[in-house]
Amino acid sequence: MKNKVVLVTGGGSGFGRATATGLAALGAKVVVGDLNLETAEETARLARVAGVEARAQKLDVTQEKSVQAFTEGALKAFGRIDGAFNNAGILGPLQEMAEVPLEDFERVMAVNVRGVWLCMQAQIRAMLRQAPPEGGHSIVNMASIAGLAASPMLPAYSASKHAVVGLTRSAARNYGRRGIRVNCVCPGPVETPLAEPLFEASGMREMMLARQSMAKFGTPGEVAALVLWLLSPAASLVTGTPMRVDAGALA
Ligand SMILES: NC(=O)c1ccc[n+]([C@@H]2O[C@H](COP(=O)([O-])OP(=O)(O)OC[C@H]3O[C@@H](n4cnc5c(N)ncnc54)[C@H](O)[C@@H]3O)[C@@H](O)[C@H]2O)c1
Repeated sequence: MKNKVVLVTGGGSGFGRATATGLAALGAKVVVGDLNLETAEETARLARVAGVEARAQKLDVTQEKSVQAFTEGALKAFGRIDGAFNNAGILGPLQEMAEVPLEDFERVMAVNVRGVWLCMQAQIRAMLRQAPPEGGHSIVNMASIAGLAASPMLPAYSASKHAVVGLTRSAARNYGRRGIRVNCVCPGPVETPLAEPLFEASGMREMMLARQSMAKFGTPGEVAALVLWLLSPAASLVTGTPMRVDAGALA
Protein backbone atom coordinates (compact mmCIF):
# COMPACT_ATOMS: atom_id res chain seq x y z
CA MET A 1 0.00 0.00 0.00
CA LYS A 2 3.07 2.24 0.05
CA ASN A 3 2.24 5.75 -1.23
CA LYS A 4 -1.27 4.75 -2.33
CA VAL A 5 -3.87 7.42 -1.64
CA VAL A 6 -6.94 6.15 0.22
CA LEU A 7 -10.06 8.02 1.39
CA VAL A 8 -11.81 6.97 4.60
CA THR A 9 -15.27 8.34 5.46
CA GLY A 10 -16.48 8.27 9.04
CA GLY A 11 -12.76 8.11 9.83
CA GLY A 12 -12.97 9.84 13.19
CA SER A 13 -14.02 6.79 15.17
CA GLY A 14 -14.50 3.01 15.29
CA PHE A 15 -13.82 1.04 12.11
CA GLY A 16 -12.88 4.18 10.18
CA ARG A 17 -10.12 5.15 12.60
CA ALA A 18 -8.82 1.56 12.85
CA THR A 19 -8.66 1.35 9.05
CA ALA A 20 -7.04 4.76 8.56
CA THR A 21 -4.28 4.02 11.08
CA GLY A 22 -3.89 0.51 9.64
CA LEU A 23 -3.47 2.00 6.16
CA ALA A 24 -0.87 4.43 7.48
CA ALA A 25 1.07 1.55 9.06
CA LEU A 26 1.23 -0.01 5.57
CA GLY A 27 2.62 3.22 4.11
CA ALA A 28 -0.53 4.60 2.47
CA LYS A 29 -1.45 8.29 2.42
CA VAL A 30 -4.85 8.72 4.05
CA VAL A 31 -7.56 11.31 3.72
CA VAL A 32 -9.91 11.16 6.68
CA GLY A 33 -13.42 12.61 6.37
CA ASP A 34 -15.93 12.89 9.18
CA LEU A 35 -18.88 15.01 10.27
CA ASN A 36 -16.79 15.58 13.39
CA LEU A 37 -13.66 17.45 12.24
CA GLU A 38 -11.94 17.18 15.63
CA THR A 39 -12.03 13.38 15.72
CA ALA A 40 -11.00 13.25 12.03
CA GLU A 41 -8.00 15.45 12.84
CA GLU A 42 -7.06 13.17 15.72
CA THR A 43 -7.16 10.15 13.37
CA ALA A 44 -4.95 12.00 10.85
CA ARG A 45 -2.52 12.83 13.67
CA LEU A 46 -2.43 9.13 14.70
CA ALA A 47 -1.80 8.18 11.05
CA ARG A 48 1.10 10.64 10.76
CA VAL A 49 2.80 8.86 13.68
CA ALA A 50 3.51 6.08 11.15
CA GLY A 51 5.49 8.61 9.08
CA VAL A 52 2.99 9.03 6.23
CA GLU A 53 1.12 12.07 4.99
CA ALA A 54 -2.44 12.28 6.24
CA ARG A 55 -5.11 14.96 6.07
CA ALA A 56 -8.46 15.47 7.73
CA GLN A 57 -11.48 17.19 6.27
CA LYS A 58 -14.97 17.90 7.53
CA LEU A 59 -17.37 15.78 5.52
CA ASP A 60 -21.11 15.24 5.47
CA VAL A 61 -21.68 12.25 3.19
CA THR A 62 -25.34 13.19 2.70
CA GLN A 63 -24.37 16.47 0.96
CA GLU A 64 -23.19 16.31 -2.65
CA LYS A 65 -21.13 19.52 -2.36
CA SER A 66 -19.40 18.26 0.78
CA VAL A 67 -18.56 14.93 -0.90
CA GLN A 68 -17.22 16.76 -3.96
CA ALA A 69 -15.07 19.03 -1.79
CA PHE A 70 -13.71 15.98 0.07
CA THR A 71 -12.79 14.18 -3.15
CA GLU A 72 -11.32 17.31 -4.74
CA GLY A 73 -9.36 18.04 -1.56
CA ALA A 74 -7.73 14.61 -1.80
CA LEU A 75 -6.92 15.09 -5.50
CA LYS A 76 -5.48 18.54 -4.89
CA ALA A 77 -3.33 17.34 -1.98
CA PHE A 78 -2.10 14.02 -3.38
CA GLY A 79 -2.83 14.07 -7.13
CA ARG A 80 -4.76 10.80 -7.32
CA ILE A 81 -7.14 8.41 -5.53
CA ASP A 82 -6.24 4.71 -5.41
CA GLY A 83 -8.82 3.46 -2.96
CA ALA A 84 -11.68 4.39 -0.66
CA PHE A 85 -13.44 3.03 2.39
CA ASN A 86 -17.01 4.35 2.45
CA ASN A 87 -17.67 3.67 6.09
CA ALA A 88 -19.68 6.58 7.54
CA GLY A 89 -22.98 5.35 8.89
CA ILE A 90 -25.61 5.66 11.60
CA LEU A 91 -27.75 3.07 13.38
CA GLY A 92 -31.10 4.82 13.78
CA PRO A 93 -33.67 3.88 16.41
CA LEU A 94 -34.04 0.39 17.87
CA GLN A 95 -37.73 -0.08 17.06
CA GLU A 96 -40.09 -2.32 15.15
CA MET A 97 -41.03 -1.10 11.68
CA ALA A 98 -44.46 0.29 12.53
CA GLU A 99 -42.98 2.43 15.33
CA VAL A 100 -40.20 4.16 13.35
CA PRO A 101 -40.88 7.86 12.57
CA LEU A 102 -40.51 8.65 8.87
CA GLU A 103 -37.76 11.22 9.53
CA ASP A 104 -35.64 8.56 11.27
CA PHE A 105 -36.07 6.21 8.30
CA GLU A 106 -35.09 9.03 5.94
CA ARG A 107 -32.03 10.03 7.98
CA VAL A 108 -30.74 6.43 8.08
CA MET A 109 -31.22 6.07 4.32
CA ALA A 110 -29.60 9.48 3.70
CA VAL A 111 -26.38 8.68 5.58
CA ASN A 112 -26.06 4.96 4.84
CA VAL A 113 -27.33 4.77 1.24
CA ARG A 114 -27.27 8.24 -0.33
CA GLY A 115 -23.89 8.76 1.38
CA VAL A 116 -22.35 5.65 -0.18
CA TRP A 117 -23.94 6.53 -3.54
CA LEU A 118 -22.53 10.08 -3.58
CA CYS A 119 -19.08 8.98 -2.39
CA MET A 120 -18.83 6.16 -4.94
CA GLN A 121 -19.92 8.44 -7.78
CA ALA A 122 -17.29 11.03 -6.95
CA GLN A 123 -14.56 8.42 -6.43
CA ILE A 124 -15.35 6.47 -9.59
CA ARG A 125 -15.37 9.66 -11.69
CA ALA A 126 -11.89 10.47 -10.38
CA MET A 127 -10.62 6.89 -10.77
CA LEU A 128 -11.81 6.63 -14.40
CA ARG A 129 -9.51 9.56 -15.24
CA GLN A 130 -6.44 7.70 -13.90
CA ALA A 131 -4.54 4.57 -14.91
CA PRO A 132 -5.38 1.85 -12.36
CA PRO A 133 -2.64 1.02 -9.83
CA GLU A 134 -1.31 -2.54 -9.38
CA GLY A 135 -4.25 -4.73 -8.27
CA GLY A 136 -6.76 -2.15 -9.56
CA HIS A 137 -8.50 0.75 -7.89
CA SER A 138 -10.35 -0.57 -4.86
CA ILE A 139 -13.52 0.71 -3.21
CA VAL A 140 -14.75 -0.94 -0.02
CA ASN A 141 -18.20 -0.05 1.28
CA MET A 142 -19.37 -0.63 4.84
CA ALA A 143 -22.42 -2.89 5.00
CA SER A 144 -23.22 -5.18 7.97
CA ILE A 145 -24.65 -8.61 8.68
CA ALA A 146 -27.87 -6.55 8.84
CA GLY A 147 -27.35 -6.16 5.07
CA LEU A 148 -27.55 -9.93 4.55
CA ALA A 149 -30.20 -11.04 7.03
CA ALA A 150 -33.10 -9.49 8.92
CA SER A 151 -32.48 -7.28 11.91
CA PRO A 152 -36.05 -6.95 13.17
CA MET A 153 -35.43 -4.12 15.67
CA LEU A 154 -33.43 -2.14 13.09
CA PRO A 155 -35.66 -2.21 10.01
CA ALA A 156 -34.40 1.01 8.37
CA TYR A 157 -30.78 0.17 9.16
CA SER A 158 -31.20 -3.35 7.80
CA ALA A 159 -32.81 -2.03 4.60
CA SER A 160 -30.05 0.56 4.19
CA LYS A 161 -27.31 -2.05 4.52
CA HIS A 162 -29.06 -4.39 2.03
CA ALA A 163 -28.97 -1.38 -0.31
CA VAL A 164 -25.22 -0.98 0.25
CA VAL A 165 -24.76 -4.61 -0.84
CA GLY A 166 -26.80 -3.86 -3.98
CA LEU A 167 -24.86 -0.70 -4.80
CA THR A 168 -21.61 -2.61 -4.32
CA ARG A 169 -22.61 -5.40 -6.69
CA SER A 170 -23.90 -2.94 -9.32
CA ALA A 171 -20.74 -0.84 -9.27
CA ALA A 172 -18.55 -3.97 -9.45
CA ARG A 173 -20.41 -5.09 -12.61
CA ASN A 174 -20.23 -1.61 -14.15
CA TYR A 175 -16.53 -0.98 -13.61
CA GLY A 176 -14.82 -4.39 -13.35
CA ARG A 177 -13.46 -4.09 -16.89
CA ARG A 178 -12.17 -0.60 -16.25
CA GLY A 179 -9.86 -1.47 -13.37
CA ILE A 180 -12.08 -0.67 -10.39
CA ARG A 181 -12.87 -3.36 -7.81
CA VAL A 182 -15.83 -2.75 -5.48
CA ASN A 183 -16.56 -4.89 -2.43
CA CYS A 184 -18.28 -4.47 0.90
CA VAL A 185 -17.69 -5.78 4.40
CA CYS A 186 -20.40 -7.15 6.67
CA PRO A 187 -19.32 -7.07 10.31
CA GLY A 188 -21.28 -8.43 13.21
CA PRO A 189 -21.66 -6.35 16.39
CA VAL A 190 -18.52 -4.58 17.63
CA GLU A 191 -18.47 -2.19 20.59
CA THR A 192 -18.09 1.27 19.03
CA PRO A 193 -20.01 4.49 19.85
CA LEU A 194 -22.51 3.61 17.08
CA ALA A 195 -23.29 0.21 18.62
CA GLU A 196 -23.69 1.46 22.20
CA PRO A 197 -27.51 1.34 22.15
CA LEU A 198 -27.33 -2.28 20.95
CA PHE A 199 -24.92 -3.39 23.65
CA GLU A 200 -26.85 -1.48 26.32
CA ALA A 201 -30.36 -2.70 25.46
CA SER A 202 -31.63 -5.21 27.98
CA GLY A 203 -30.67 -8.79 27.08
CA MET A 204 -29.21 -7.80 23.67
CA ARG A 205 -25.56 -8.49 24.46
CA GLU A 206 -26.37 -12.09 25.49
CA MET A 207 -28.69 -12.54 22.49
CA MET A 208 -26.08 -11.28 20.01
CA LEU A 209 -23.37 -13.48 21.52
CA ALA A 210 -25.61 -16.57 21.50
CA ARG A 211 -26.23 -16.00 17.76
CA GLN A 212 -22.50 -16.16 16.94
CA SER A 213 -20.39 -19.27 16.32
CA MET A 214 -17.50 -17.78 18.29
CA ALA A 215 -17.97 -16.73 21.90
CA LYS A 216 -16.48 -13.24 21.51
CA PHE A 217 -17.26 -9.88 19.98
CA GLY A 218 -14.73 -8.55 17.51
CA THR A 219 -12.66 -5.38 17.67
CA PRO A 220 -12.46 -2.54 15.11
CA GLY A 221 -8.95 -3.79 14.26
CA GLU A 222 -10.25 -7.25 13.32
CA VAL A 223 -12.70 -5.68 10.87
CA ALA A 224 -10.08 -3.23 9.56
CA ALA A 225 -7.82 -6.22 8.74
CA LEU A 226 -10.34 -7.39 6.13
CA VAL A 227 -10.81 -3.86 4.74
CA LEU A 228 -7.03 -3.46 4.38
CA TRP A 229 -6.82 -6.74 2.50
CA LEU A 230 -9.64 -5.76 0.12
CA LEU A 231 -7.98 -2.39 -0.50
CA SER A 232 -4.64 -4.05 -1.25
CA PRO A 233 -3.36 -5.69 -4.48
CA ALA A 234 -3.53 -9.04 -2.60
CA ALA A 235 -7.28 -8.99 -3.35
CA SER A 236 -6.74 -8.37 -7.09
CA LEU A 237 -9.31 -11.00 -8.16
CA VAL A 238 -12.02 -10.02 -5.67
CA THR A 239 -14.90 -7.78 -6.73
CA GLY A 240 -18.66 -7.57 -6.20
CA THR A 241 -18.40 -9.50 -2.94
CA PRO A 242 -20.07 -8.82 0.40
CA MET A 243 -17.66 -10.37 2.93
CA ARG A 244 -18.78 -11.37 6.39
CA VAL A 245 -16.52 -10.67 9.36
CA ASP A 246 -18.98 -11.68 12.04
CA ALA A 247 -17.57 -14.37 14.38
CA GLY A 248 -19.71 -16.81 12.41
CA ALA A 249 -23.04 -15.15 13.26
CA LEU A 250 -24.52 -16.02 9.86
CA ALA A 251 -22.63 -19.29 9.42
N1 LIG B 1 -20.21 -1.25 15.35
C1 LIG B 1 -20.91 -2.21 14.83
O1 LIG B 1 -21.36 -3.13 15.51
C2 LIG B 1 -21.14 -2.26 13.33
C3 LIG B 1 -21.44 -3.48 12.72
C4 LIG B 1 -21.63 -3.53 11.35
C5 LIG B 1 -21.49 -2.37 10.60
N2 LIG B 1 -21.19 -1.19 11.22
C6 LIG B 1 -21.03 0.00 10.36
O2 LIG B 1 -19.72 0.51 10.51
C7 LIG B 1 -19.70 1.88 10.12
C8 LIG B 1 -18.87 2.67 11.11
O3 LIG B 1 -19.48 2.59 12.35
P1 LIG B 1 -18.69 2.41 13.73
O4 LIG B 1 -19.27 1.24 14.40
O5 LIG B 1 -17.23 2.49 13.51
O6 LIG B 1 -19.30 3.67 14.50
P2 LIG B 1 -18.69 5.03 15.04
O7 LIG B 1 -19.83 5.75 15.63
O8 LIG B 1 -17.51 4.72 15.90
O9 LIG B 1 -18.18 5.77 13.72
C9 LIG B 1 -19.05 6.33 12.77
C10 LIG B 1 -18.44 7.62 12.28
O10 LIG B 1 -19.21 8.11 11.18
C11 LIG B 1 -19.33 9.51 11.32
N3 LIG B 1 -20.51 10.00 10.60
C12 LIG B 1 -21.81 9.87 10.94
N4 LIG B 1 -22.60 10.50 10.06
C13 LIG B 1 -21.78 11.04 9.11
C14 LIG B 1 -22.00 11.84 7.95
N5 LIG B 1 -23.23 12.22 7.57
N6 LIG B 1 -20.92 12.21 7.22
C15 LIG B 1 -19.66 11.87 7.61
N7 LIG B 1 -19.39 11.16 8.72
C16 LIG B 1 -20.45 10.74 9.46
C17 LIG B 1 -19.42 9.74 12.82
O11 LIG B 1 -19.10 11.08 13.18
C18 LIG B 1 -18.43 8.72 13.35
O12 LIG B 1 -17.12 9.26 13.48
C19 LIG B 1 -21.16 2.31 10.00
O13 LIG B 1 -21.50 2.36 8.61
C20 LIG B 1 -21.91 1.17 10.68
O14 LIG B 1 -23.20 1.01 10.17
C21 LIG B 1 -21.01 -1.12 12.55
